[in-house]
Amino acid sequence: MKKVTPNILKIEVTTRCNANCIFCSHRFLNKKHLKDMPFDTVKMLIDQTNWRWKPEIQLSGFGEPTLYPDLVKAVRYCHKKGLKSSFNTNGFLLTRDLMDQLIKAGLSQFRFAIDGYSKKTYESLRRGLNFETVLYNALDAWGLCRKSKTRMIILNVICKENENEFILLKDFWSRHSHKFEVNQEMPFVQGRVEQFYSDICDHFWTQMQVRVNGDVVICCLDFPPNYTKLGNVYETPLLEIYNSPSFNKLRLNFKKSIYPDVCYRYCVRK
Ligand SMILES: C[S@@+](CC[C@H](N)C(=O)[O-])C[C@H]1O[C@@H](n2cnc3c(N)ncnc32)[C@H](O)[C@@H]1O
Ligand code: SF4
Ligand code: SF4
Repeated sequence: MKKVTPNILKIEVTTRCNANCIFCSHRFLNKKHLKDMPFDTVKMLIDQTNWRWKPEIQLSGFGEPTLYPDLVKAVRYCHKKGLKSSFNTNGFLLTRDLMDQLIKAGLSQFRFAIDGYSKKTYESLRRGLNFETVLYNALDAWGLCRKSKTRMIILNVICKENENEFILLKDFWSRHSHKFEVNQEMPFVQGRVEQFYSDICDHFWTQMQVRVNGDVVICCLDFPPNYTKLGNVYETPLLEIYNSPSFNKLRLNFKKSIYPDVCYRYCVRK
């Protein structure tokens, strides 16, 4: 079988977070799951890429990457290795100084999550964060990105609380970013929504998610306490895990519309 190499390698550098967003399952993480990945591990993962396999490195998972003390170092290391880097962020801690350092380190993309057009809606969704601070940081980032090679993406989780503001949000941020991306709310919080999504997904072929403890899982939605561990990066090289019999079996099954539990939980209609 031909070796499969993901285009995006997602590394969960931290599971710590400074917010408590109502649609996010981060709140269900047990305290023992809150930690940072040692920088040596990030380095070890990046060192496994080579001239034939140059994935974009997304320094994200369940947590807020701007809390990771070695974020700038990680971005710089990706750049040194000729790899694109990005991370999803709530943007609250992205000060001018940190943004300057990240841009200088060679960050390819800021991926800012902004889900409300008004303070009321934003703060009711992104609990613990301050709307004005995030707005200020995002506009500041846009100003810096326009003068550099770093791209600015705005992410929006659309849900019933913000759907009335969607047009305003899209109109404003489409003019103040390189791209406005919409994520439909996933039913992370049981009972919040009854919506399920298409079963068309290419994650098994294009993306790889490494959790903070080194476990490789099915995708970013596969998180503690019940997740499928497909290997651990401290024991097995990345591409060996990605091409292991268990990963290949998932791929074959996926093509036959036989899905792992996590897909039924979030994306696939039974
Ligand atoms: C889990 S967060 C981690 C990164 C960072 N803390 C942030 O908020 O962007 C990664 C992405 O998942 C999105 N997300 C969180 N809960 C979601 C949900 N229930 N449905 C869809 N996307 C969600 C967030 O908006 C964010 O863009
Ligand atoms: S969406 Fe991001 S900022 Fe909000 S709780 Fe989840 S990890 Fe934290
Ligand atoms: S849960 Fe399954 S279908 Fe949904 S994103 Fe993950 S791999 Fe794809």
